[in-house]
Amino acid sequence: MNGNRRQFIRLSGGVAIATLGTGCGDPLTTHDSSVPESPYHAQSTAEEVTQDIDLSNKLAVVTGCTSGIGFETMRVLAKRGAYVVGTGRTLEKAKKACNSVAGVTTPLAMELTDFESIVACADAIRRIKAPIDIIICNAGMRGGDHEVVNGVEKHFQVNHLGHFLFVNRLIDRMFFAWQGRVVIIGSRAAYQSAPSAGIEFGNIDGGRDYSVSKAYAHSKLANALFSLELSRQLRGTRITANALHPGVINTGIVRRESFLVRAAFGALTAVSGKTLEEGAATPCFVATHPSLGSVSGKYFEDCNAVTVTGNHHLNNSEMAAKLWTLSESLLGDYLIRHERPDYEEFQESLKKWL
Ligand SMILES: NC(=O)c1ccc[n+]([C@@H]2O[C@H](COP(=O)([O-])OP(=O)(O)OC[C@H]3O[C@@H](n4cnc5c(N)ncnc54)[C@H](OP(=O)(O)O)[C@@H]3O)[C@@H](O)[C@H]2O)c1
Repeated sequence: MNGNRRQFIRLSGGVAIATLGTGCGDPLTTHDSSVPESPYHAQSTAEEVTQDIDLSNKLAVVTGCTSGIGFETMRVLAKRGAYVVGTGRTLEKAKKACNSVAGVTTPLAMELTDFESIVACADAIRRIKAPIDIIICNAGMRGGDHEVVNGVEKHFQVNHLGHFLFVNRLIDRMFFAWQGRVVIIGSRAAYQSAPSAGIEFGNIDGGRDYSVSKAYAHSKLANALFSLELSRQLRGTRITANALHPGVINTGIVRRESFLVRAAFGALTAVSGKTLEEGAATPCFVATHPSLGSVSGKYFEDCNAVTVTGNHHLNNSEMAAKLWTLSESLLGDYLIRHERPDYEEFQESLKKWL
């Protein structure tokens, strides 16, 4: 692997993010030795990492398929034979995206600020009456003035809470898949720029000390913790949950930022960011690679599971459980109550046979 270029991209990516006001610094990531190192790296593309993978008979759901990483992810999964449901904020946008890729796709509307829209979208997917193999929670936003939606800060709503509800409404369909995967597109901002205390349980509406970079990083930490707790709750099942950072890519994610920030981000990503094809590689790798069938609760960058050193809350299981409880209380009756698998019981039952 091209270590120098990788390190350069990491560092310059940090500078790009810093320009966006999300903080900077050496990411301090090392390969997570509990997961076999993959042959892929920062410059691998989504097509390369799925080269020999046949996704025929798989149903994949990609949120935010209308642009950027989500669009490329949908394109490549469909190319490999998956039936892909792609969501967009409007049906028109989702249709346009789905019609631009080869393969079998279905467009659906889902606006993540609107609980009714999320429920309607999940219900439409349920009507397909097929096991769901892959859910990629990709849709995301960044920027804008402080806004409160459904009582919470808008980044938290769109990037975390909306997806929490979406996954809840679909997860039981994954039990019928041979091996289900929930893939959460987070960001390195979760450990670079999230509040030092982690999730601000007393400031969920973001009214105190609002800044775009803090609100975005806060929501991305919520992504990582959601994945962590989901993976814990899914122990003993064939469903995995993992979170990842896709890389720094010049997509529409900065469209709500100032002209200056957009220009700086554009310039820096042109020099040192990933291409869209590279940006979709880690999502496609985590969603499909056979080597990851029982890998869960991990965090990936550049197509590899990584451990992040330093002070951060990525692996804070207590905080993850607290966030889960908060999310449930915020969503109330919108949630489906599932019978949770009891891991201890599962382990006990195995003893009889082993
Ligand atoms: N690009 C990067 O450097 C980078 C770095 C780290 C992490 N990420 C993460 O990667 C993911 C994909 O982002 P991207 O870079 O591909 O950006 P993008 O091109 O802006 O794509 C974001 C997608 O999310 C959708 N979306 C935004 N707000 C939504 C809402 N309220 N309800 C439903 N869908 C909504 C967008 O739909 P519309 O087009 O209709 O707005 C679009 O389809 C995000 O989670 C982002 O945080 C990106």
